[in-house]
Order: sequence, then C-alpha cells, then structure tokens
Amino acid sequence: MKAPIGIFDSGYGGLTILKEIVNVLPEYDYIYLGDNARAPYGTKDFETVYEYTFQAVNWFFDKGCSLVILACNTASAKALRSIQQNDLPKIDVNKRVLGVIRPTSEIIGEYSKSKHVGVLGTTGTINSNSYLIEIAKFFPNIKVSQEACPEWVSLVESNNLQSAETDHFVQLHINQILGKDSQIDTLLLACTHYPLLMDKIKQYTPEGIAVISQGKIVAESLKNYLSRHDNIESACSKTGNRQFYTTGNSADFNDHASLFFGSSVTCEPTILG
Ligand code: DGL
Repeated sequence: MKAPIGIFDSGYGGLTILKEIVNVLPEYDYIYLGDNARAPYGTKDFETVYEYTFQAVNWFFDKGCSLVILACNTASAKALRSIQQNDLPKIDVNKRVLGVIRPTSEIIGEYSKSKHVGVLGTTGTINSNSYLIEIAKFFPNIKVSQEACPEWVSLVESNNLQSAETDHFVQLHINQILGKDSQIDTLLLACTHYPLLMDKIKQYTPEGIAVISQGKIVAESLKNYLSRHDNIESACSKTGNRQFYTTGNSADFNDHASLFFGSSVTCEPTILG
C-alpha cells in the first residue's frame, strides 16, 4: 500500500526542510512530526537522541510510511547510522530512513572557492564530528572549522528572533568561527532551525562570505534519490496531501509553524514513547 513520506524533527526546524521539499516535489504526500515536547535534542546525550528518534521512526512506520527523512542534523548525527545498520534489517528491509548530513556534505565543498568552510550546529552535531568526517569523504582538500551555537535553537523555538540577546549570541558565534579560520568563505547552517536567524546571521557575517542553509540541498537530493529508487518511489502516495503532528501543544505549533513552513499549518497532537 502507498503511504506519505515521513519528515521528522525535534521541533519546528524540519519545516524549513519540508518547505523546500514540497517546492521541489509537490505531488507527493507528507506527514510531518515534531517532537516539540522533548526538544531541544541538541543538548541531549547520544542514547537519548537515539531512543527518541527510534520511537519517531516506528511511529512513521505504524502510519505505513516506507521512507522517513530525519530532517534534523542532531538526530541524523546521533541516531541515523544505528537505525540504518542495526534496526532496519530487523524491522523491515523494504523501509528506508535518510538523514540530512550526507546530502549536505556531498555538495557543500562546491560552494567554497577558498576551500575553507565553517560549520555551525548544535552541540550534539558538532561534538559528533559528523560533518568533519562526511565532508572529508567527498572533499578531502577542504578545511572545515566547527562551532556549536547552543543558544540558537532556544532563541528560535521561543520565537525570540529580534532582541539584544539574539544579536549577542549570533554575533558571538559568527565571530568565534571566523576567528578559527580567517580564510572561511562559506558558512554552513548545519541545523534546521538556523535559517530562521538568517537575517541576523547575515548582518554579522562580512560581505563575501556565503551563508548556506540546507533546505534546497536536501530537497534536490531527495528528488534524485526517488528517481534512482523505483521500489521506494512507487511506495510513496501522490495526492499532494500534507499532515502535521506534534508531541507538544497543538495551538502553539499552529501559531509558530507558519514562520518555518511559510504557510499556515494545522496539526494534530500525538504521543511518542
Ligand atoms: N533542528 C535540529 C537540528 O537540525 C536541532 C534542534 C534541537 O536541538 O532540537 O540539529
């Protein structure tokens, strides 16, 4: 039976990815799940992020999904490999779970002329070194510097996009990463929440340095994946339907989500675990 493509994030951030996926692949059906009740994931340990993400993946499988995208760098960094290698073979060999780190790493080197890239992410993503490892596979000559921005997700989740506090923490981390390598000409926003801070990030980033978010990259990569995997593509339903679920407060989600998704959203509450 055909089913929607599942899109998972710890909260709202994955909506920035879904927005671009829907632009590129509007004909498919999508189910979005935000684990807002337990966000942020970026400050949680490996075991916890794995356990929560595994629960979410099973939730999508219970809904019939054959393909689930972890539209969250932290979940991709800390849970994806275990789920792909250990869990999927036991659950169902015909199901697929994909992340956002590999498709981003495959292409990010092409944005940089100086071959010096800066990666901004949650503490979990940065400490996992996933981007260092993955980018080195595709672009061994690129020098990658990293910076954890632990305050940024909370600023975004609480809709605190314009305040002295926001200016302070955005400027702080931009200065810190550029201080690590003066030749950086490309900054990657390796967290799906960060595009909401794009205006502030650009304000504190010197001219000539590109700031790259992942939405379009992930969307193009998914399009390419579906064109190469007939068995998965043919299991995805195509009526243009979108469903949204949150483990948090539905009214808050509906209020907030349009900022991330770009149009209004009506969600249903759900429980994980
Ligand atoms: N949006 C998630 C990411 O891309 C992290 C948000 C969180 O810390 O929960 O890493």
